[in-house]
Amino acid sequence: MNLLDVDGLSRSELERLLDLAVEMRERRGDTTLRGETVALAFYEASTRTRVSFELAAKALGATTVDLGVAGSSVGKGESLVDTLLTLQRTGVTIIVLRHAASGAPYLAARATAARIVNAGDGQHAHPTQALADALTLREHLGGLDGRKIAIVGDIAHSRVARSNLQALTALGASVWLAGPPAFVRGFDAWPGATVAPLDEALRDADAVMTLRIQLEREAGGGIPSLREYVASWGLTEERMGLANRGAPILHPGPTNEGLELSADLASSDRSLIGRQVENGVPVRMAVLALVAGAA
Ligand code: CP
Repeated sequence: MNLLDVDGLSRSELERLLDLAVEMRERRGDTTLRGETVALAFYEASTRTRVSFELAAKALGATTVDLGVAGSSVGKGESLVDTLLTLQRTGVTIIVLRHAASGAPYLAARATAARIVNAGDGQHAHPTQALADALTLREHLGGLDGRKIAIVGDIAHSRVARSNLQALTALGASVWLAGPPAFVRGFDAWPGATVAPLDEALRDADAVMTLRIQLEREAGGGIPSLREYVASWGLTEERMGLANRGAPILHPGPTNEGLELSADLASSDRSLIGRQVENGVPVRMAVLALVAGAA
């Protein structure tokens, strides 16, 4: 099977993947993926996702290969499909694909026999980030049922926000969205989502996630200036005072401290940002085992 998005996963399938990720923490050094060759095909920059997929694959005994897009024949004009078919023909069995084009992993899944894992496509989906975030929240809050989770910032351009919205609502949370009008437009039609002014979204929230402004996806046009964005939407300890006492702050990274959240908040006891990164490895181990048919 492929993992292209979380929207096709039922609540029980999501819970099972999170349970499997917890199990995977104890399973470094095993051979679940022996015989599999995992290619990292990252057409967009990445630190967390690329490194954690590589470590996850190796921890389960797979061979890994990094396409290294910048130094590959992509620079000579080779198409996405031809590149992925080349990987398949060299023996790659699982392709972890990040691409700027929304939908690229779906094209890849149709064009190749290798199994495809979506590591983030355009502004569409980032399923493994949502799974890492859901695991982080589930463990910190003790469950997601009935919890109020606020997501603040550039929701429109964020694949993380879309996947989190789907995963968290499927797991029983209510998701409140707040941001400048251009960043939340249309999201009130999403099932399970409530678009609200910032103070309403934060009030009594059990957890708050903030997002980087995706300037590489032309998000800059949606705000008057970064300074005004910070003044109106930047998260601070003071603004977090509206949320439930001790409510954690999350961010999928990379962060721009001083912009979407203050440096103090990012390094405070409330911050689960490091935990989100730590959970990325076992979550990706679980996903690789699942797509390999070994879970
Ligand atoms: N959250 C996330 O996808 O980070 P990277 O771009 O560093 O992989």
